[in-house]
Amino acid sequence: MRIDILTVVPRLLDGPFADSIVRRGQDKGLVEIHVHNIRDWSTDKHKKVDDVPFGGNAGMVMTIQPILDAIESLKSERNYSDVIYLTPDGERLHQGMVNQLSIRGNLIMLCGHYKGVDQRVRDHLITREISIGDYVLSGGELAAAVLTDAIVRLIPGVIGDEQSALTDSFQDGLLAPPVYTRPAEYNGWKVPEILRSGDHAAVQKWLESEAIERTQQRRPDLFSEDSL
Ligand code: ADE
Repeated sequence: MRIDILTVVPRLLDGPFADSIVRRGQDKGLVEIHVHNIRDWSTDKHKKVDDVPFGGNAGMVMTIQPILDAIESLKSERNYSDVIYLTPDGERLHQGMVNQLSIRGNLIMLCGHYKGVDQRVRDHLITREISIGDYVLSGGELAAAVLTDAIVRLIPGVIGDEQSALTDSFQDGLLAPPVYTRPAEYNGWKVPEILRSGDHAAVQKWLESEAIERTQQRRPDLFSEDSL
């Protein structure tokens, strides 16, 4: 899989893909992540990528030309299954969407900045608009990093222990149960006895009931919402 991210502030994405699981996915050749500066495609002599909005409101709007040229040049090289625009008014991200995106093809992610992109980019070039939550970030870059991270960790082979992505919160519509490690007692705080019983079936049953209880307490909406 290949993910191409278009931004006017590529440096914001220097960190998120340089370590840990996403780094491992790249090192293993399972995913390629390319961050591009939209400015590189600007034909303006000052490399401008934004302009004042029609209608006279405050703020600047990202212009069509460099974005269209960037997307066309990427598409001329390979196929993409989606061109995603990260925006607070997009469809709200959930694990089911991430699961789908991880098994589709290559992706282009467009990060908005300033007041966002000219609506005609959204109308003619974007196939999917995604928000990572009901709050406004300074731009789409951190949202693209979140989406990329969530997708990459699901690509088969990226996480060493295949089971572990499947036991994440949300994968079965439930929050994950609590986890414990050694020592069995520290500072007078004890690991629940059942986890040390060696009775695999009883442990599984306990973990399941903990997951259900935690979900009921913290996210009862997950029992009614169609989030997978
Ligand atoms: N850009 C700014 N805020 C955003 C959000 N919440 N989700 C996705 N993109 C954004």
